Amino acid sequence: MNNNSVRIHTKMSLKTTITTTNIVSFAKRLSIYSILFLSILLFFPATETILNTFLDCRTTTTLSTTKKTTSPPTMNPKWFQPISKPFKLEQKQLQIALVNMDGEILEGMNTLHGAQVTQVEFEKVSSNITWRDLYPLWIDEENVNAKQICPNIPIPSDIVKYKGVDVVVAKDVYRLQVSLVAATLAAESGNEEVSVVFVGGGGGCEPMLEMFRCDDLVWKDGEYWVYKPDVNRLKQKVSLPVGACKVATQPYSFEAENPLEKSMTSTLSKANPKPLKEAYVTLLHSSELYVCGAIALAQSILQTNTTKDLVLLADDSISPSSIHGLEAAGWKVKLIQRVRCPSARKGHYNEWNCSKLRIWQLTDYSKVIFIDADFIVLNNIDHLFSYPQLSASEDTMSIFNSGVMIAEPSPCFFDMLMAKRYTLNSYNGGDQGLLNEVFTWWHRITKKISFLKCFMDEKGERKVPNDVYMIHFVGVKPWVCYRDYDCNWDQVDRHIFASDRAHSRWWRVYDALPVELKPYCGLTSYMDANIQNWREIAKNNVSFTDTHWKIDVKDPRKDNLIKQI
Ligand SMILES: *[C@@H]1O[C@H](CO)[C@@H](O)[C@H](O)[C@H]1NC(C)=O
Ligand SMILES: *[C@@H]1O[C@H](CO)[C@@H](O)[C@H](O)[C@H]1NC(C)=O
Ligand SMILES: *[C@@H]1O[C@H](CO)[C@@H](O)[C@H](O)[C@H]1NC(C)=O
Ligand SMILES: *[C@@H]1O[C@H](CO)[C@@H](O)[C@H](O)[C@H]1NC(C)=O
Repeated sequence: MNNNSVRIHTKMSLKTTITTTNIVSFAKRLSIYSILFLSILLFFPATETILNTFLDCRTTTTLSTTKKTTSPPTMNPKWFQPISKPFKLEQKQLQIALVNMDGEILEGMNTLHGAQVTQVEFEKVSSNITWRDLYPLWIDEENVNAKQICPNIPIPSDIVKYKGVDVVVAKDVYRLQVSLVAATLAAESGNEEVSVVFVGGGGGCEPMLEMFRCDDLVWKDGEYWVYKPDVNRLKQKVSLPVGACKVATQPYSFEAENPLEKSMTSTLSKANPKPLKEAYVTLLHSSELYVCGAIALAQSILQTNTTKDLVLLADDSISPSSIHGLEAAGWKVKLIQRVRCPSARKGHYNEWNCSKLRIWQLTDYSKVIFIDADFIVLNNIDHLFSYPQLSASEDTMSIFNSGVMIAEPSPCFFDMLMAKRYTLNSYNGGDQGLLNEVFTWWHRITKKISFLKCFMDEKGERKVPNDVYMIHFVGVKPWVCYRDYDCNWDQVDRHIFASDRAHSRWWRVYDALPVELKPYCGLTSYMDANIQNWREIAKNNVSFTDTHWKIDVKDPRKDNLIKQI
């Protein structure tokens, strides 16, 4: 079993391959994204830091080393005490399932208070499967029946045989297949008290946090971890495609046989009687530039008749008057202290973007959908709350975009992220790079969720497809332009973001704003001077064939300039 089980933490080798074979297209796309985030220079050290991944984990990646079991057979393993506590051993014979452990240990454990110990049999994962297969560079999302192929990672074929198991003990936390088998056994045990014990990781590896949540960790000592997982959550998790090789369609729901909400409430109510609520969340920090964006976002969400809360995290750069407007727009505002990303350069655009980690502190909510403030929602997306953490759509290649994310708030997870921002290297210095390192396994939701207003083709009308759920306003934001046309047209290097269709879609949301909110989307003399400057440059460039600068501007905001936002 030791040899071939895919190791978890080899995303590094995957990324290494990516950078050697695709430097050109990758660098090209990165340069697009650097413009996209209002940066003037190509600042990403594209080919270098992407190599520095999983620094907190072993980096030896040979798949073929057989590691001999080092733990001697033992009559009373360390983890036995914590797991046996809930059971009255004199009344119950424990069912223990061993994953990836050898016979010596098996014999030792047979004597554990007469426990019944079974070694779980499963087919080894094929040695030719690589991380690239789990995280392909591109998938054909449009055609659900086409190229979406995920490799087979075998789990026990006779899983029902292990129903009723009390304890799953697995060795080598860094092996993906071992983790999946252990999770599946626990999920299918039908036993609400089931424990999962991990023995041995080595090199700083931890059990996969995607399946084994810190909230469920009941005991840890050195390289021993004991979890009491939520069986329903795990069941949903293991029903999803492993990796991002496939769009995760509506996740498996067990409402009919075992309502998730109900059972999660019952487990929660034992420890914590808080109701399960869900919320849309956005974040404003460091400047007031996006206040109008957040107001429009709130109104666009409310226009879809959502039943969820709207929560906005704001740092102290957001003035009381803006907070008043944001609350009037529908946000419940929570004040935060912004969080620095240690690997961002000082003064860089994403220096404080780790403030986003604070969404994991929103523990009044069991689940949140985070949306950046430069989005609007066109169609109701409440159904996304059925997806587990971390679901997102693709950014580029195997990386997810952190502009829209489904996350599950948790105090221990927040603490872990705050610590990991020092040890993991973020490829872009910001939250997206960090979170992509933390979540080896993310769930791909369709790109239709968030339409990126980015057009490679100069021709055509640059339409917004009818079936998209959100628009991401990359480039110059609509509220920083005149409403007459998308002022991305006036700058050569932002042409790719220009779309009058998308622009006018945003202004439709503006038009529906209550009259008292419109001043928050006013034009300052600074913005006005900028737009005029771009128009002037466009006008004076003979090779500039685009003629949006000629448009006679009618935007009434131009005659009502505001002092500041
Ligand atoms: C791995 O090898 C098997 C045959 O041994 C083949 O069927 C399968 O397609 C291969 N998988 C990959 C990802 O190359
Ligand atoms: C929201 O509800 C209102 C009033 O019930 C209804 O008129 C409107 O069509 C709904 N909007 C959507 C997007 O369902
Ligand atoms: C990072 O934060 C800045 C505001 O300081 C914002 O303009 C930018 O869009 C953010 N970037 C990402 C990737 O969220
Ligand atoms: C003029 O426009 C062309 C493309 O249309 C661009 O390549 C060039 O850099 C522009 N010149 C200036 C001075 O902006």
